[in-house]
Amino acid sequence: MPHDFLPGLAGVPAAKSAVSDVDGQRGILEYRGIRIEELCVKSSFLETTHLLLFGRLPTKSELDRFVEDVTHHRRIKYRIVDLLKCLPEHGHPMDALQAAVAALGMFYPGRNVKDIDNNYWSAVRLIAKLPTIVAAYARLRRGDEQIPPRDDLDFCEDFLYMLTEKLPEPVWTETLDVCLILHAEHTMNASTFTGLVTASTLADPYTVVTSSIGALKGPLHGGANEEVVQMLREIGTPARARPYLERKLKDKQKIMGLGHRVYKVKDPRATILQGVCERLFRECGTSPLYEVALEVERVAGELLGEKKIYPNVDFYSGIIYDKMGIEVDFFTPLFAMARVAGWLAHWFEQLRENKLFRPDQIYEGEHNRPYVPIEKR
Ligand code: ACO
Repeated sequence: MPHDFLPGLAGVPAAKSAVSDVDGQRGILEYRGIRIEELCVKSSFLETTHLLLFGRLPTKSELDRFVEDVTHHRRIKYRIVDLLKCLPEHGHPMDALQAAVAALGMFYPGRNVKDIDNNYWSAVRLIAKLPTIVAAYARLRRGDEQIPPRDDLDFCEDFLYMLTEKLPEPVWTETLDVCLILHAEHTMNASTFTGLVTASTLADPYTVVTSSIGALKGPLHGGANEEVVQMLREIGTPARARPYLERKLKDKQKIMGLGHRVYKVKDPRATILQGVCERLFRECGTSPLYEVALEVERVAGELLGEKKIYPNVDFYSGIIYDKMGIEVDFFTPLFAMARVAGWLAHWFEQLRENKLFRPDQIYEGEHNRPYVPIEKR
């Protein structure tokens, strides 16, 4: 039966899902039916993760248990630390994260994805250990020792402590918590779809997450947050934003952090993150990058508004991480630490009614060509 070919599968449903929903015309994002604006104010990353994974907000005792389970699984084997030590110091942290998550699966080899209990513990381990791996690589690659997690610290506090060996101020942990909530899930994006394709083969969750990490790394997806900060640094001052954008657009180049396959208005996550920036800069001093970003957004509105291209989640997140002192190439690993919640929620969902992904293609090659011997080519 002939089908229309839709490049990038734009608009083609790849799954039925109750995890999250985007209204791209009105700029609304809901996790399990709850608006992200409300979750950012009232929830925490781990509570939101529970909501995504299990479909509802946890009771107090369910949340306590989930937090305890995650807290007690933050440690990583010394062999994983050794593996990270052996990686090149100039390697990209997303590659280090991908290698370490693939290796994690060798330590927890429960391959039966029909075992619900095993799947719960795999999800807990992945959520718990990604921050430990990210923080460990950040330190190890500059020659510092890994700082093991501390059970008395909450999720975001512990991550920042493992990075810096200092207890962070509440403003930093609260900011990171909101960033993680906003990056935790976003319907059928490239990395979630990649994970589902892998999951459809009944591969183990470490392999599923490893493949999603690979897809997230690309500059058209999660990798854009790094490029935004590099672009803002290159522009340097608000006055240089307009000539920069005009030159890029004349050369048919994309402006990083702008545009989205689904949103035809400003991404609601960008709006929230902009508010986070303002609060952060009021309390901790401003960032020159923010002034440049505001002008880029304003000029882009004039130059690209007709095409409905506005800031996406990656536009303001990098400015926040930069202010937190996080190195640019660690922005996407932070994204992965959050998005693992969404990947696993879709994995749980898919396992309930799995069908191997095996799409079709439109063959455009030749048929019945003769094999020409090498000496006659
Ligand atoms: N800057 C300039 N022009 C753009 C941009 C942009 N950032 N995004 C889209 N356009 C233009 C395209 O040039 C194209 O114009 P044309 O019709 O005149 O040729 C039109 O808008 C449609 O662009 P596509 O790339 O076909 O649209 P798509 O739906 O594939 O775009 C995407 C989505 C890939 C995110 C795109 O907007 C982009 O490349 N943005 C920059 C990278 C980025 O910020 N990625 C992060 C996305 S959010 C996330 O993944 C977490």
